Amino acid sequence: MINIAKVIIDDETIKEVVEVLKSGHLVEGKVTRKFEESFAKWVNCKFAYSTSSGSTALLLALLSLIKKDDEVIVPSFTHISTANSVIYARGRVKFVDIDQETYNLSVEDLKLKISRNTKAIIAVHLFGLPANLKEIGKIAEDYNAIVISDAAQAHGAKIDGVNIANLSHLSCYSFYPTKNIVAGEGGMVACDCEDCYRKGLLIKNHGDKGRYEHVDLGFNFRLNDIASAIGFNYLKKADELISRRIQNAKFLISKLEKLETLILPKVPKGYTHVYNQFSLRINKELLKVDRDGFVQELRKRGIDARVHYPLPIPLQPIYKSLHSLDESSIKVSKEVSSTILSLPVHPYLTQEELSIIANKVEEVSKEFQKF
Ligand SMILES: Cc1ncc(COP(=O)(O)O)c(C=O)c1O
Repeated sequence: MINIAKVIIDDETIKEVVEVLKSGHLVEGKVTRKFEESFAKWVNCKFAYSTSSGSTALLLALLSLIKKDDEVIVPSFTHISTANSVIYARGRVKFVDIDQETYNLSVEDLKLKISRNTKAIIAVHLFGLPANLKEIGKIAEDYNAIVISDAAQAHGAKIDGVNIANLSHLSCYSFYPTKNIVAGEGGMVACDCEDCYRKGLLIKNHGDKGRYEHVDLGFNFRLNDIASAIGFNYLKKADELISRRIQNAKFLISKLEKLETLILPKVPKGYTHVYNQFSLRINKELLKVDRDGFVQELRKRGIDARVHYPLPIPLQPIYKSLHSLDESSIKVSKEVSSTILSLPVHPYLTQEELSIIANKVEEVSKEFQKF
């Protein structure tokens, strides 16, 4: 099987992990500080604090900004963590549909749904493609709302050469093993806002000002130094790994763009897509199989195709029980979630594997084409 993701831990990383183990300083030690400082520099932000996961990065970002019952806008098509973090922060989720071409927040729908009650907008940069932060930022400003980037899949993504972290108030990252930078489990919040940074630091450690003086309500969302050593060493190679993802995606596009049965990723001018996932859609009208059938055929042929994500968040069983929602308000999310699939694009694919992926996708497309 050609896997959807691959993690390689090099000798330098192993050496540093062993040093951490030998030091006995396993949590929030100097390796974690080093990882935070290098990450802040890499995204060109004044501050960055580590967290135990991408989900807790989002939760802390929200807790440092919103109050109970504040409304937060979330795209209806994303990883469930984006919406869950709002509920855990005691905010109210308001879903906005996605754009048909980019699968990110629809600016048109945002204009319709934002209100004076909106405190924050979470712009998810899905699959590694930046959301339209310039337009989203302007709309947010008109309503005095804050833009938080869910950049769990978008380390290194840029618009006109500017890192997405510099186009939002706070940016949240994940270091889960499928991500562009890996630490095992882990996350990071990056920002220029000193108040948000200080508040996040407090909350991630039980509101402890130092020596058990608890001045805020918090919890344990700390990162350990073993994960930080892995993350720090991945970060050193991040630019090279991301550029390989981009090359791999370009190769797949060049081989597949002739197929009418497929709708390939489209990248707006000036946007740097960092391809955490290479997600494409099937053209249902032209195929005799549905998306699940297409994925099964690829898997039979040794390609680890996956579905990100099979349901818009408001249609997940738990959200159906929490919210009543007119399904016509998320029609693009519904259409995209029933036609999308992801192919391997990770940086360790060989040229031979990339050719096999392209050939198998073409084979399935042709075998199941209607006309
Ligand atoms: C868009 C998005 N947001 C948040 C998360 C949560 O990150 P983690 O799994 O590190 O908690 C993920 C993880 O896949 C994600 O894809």
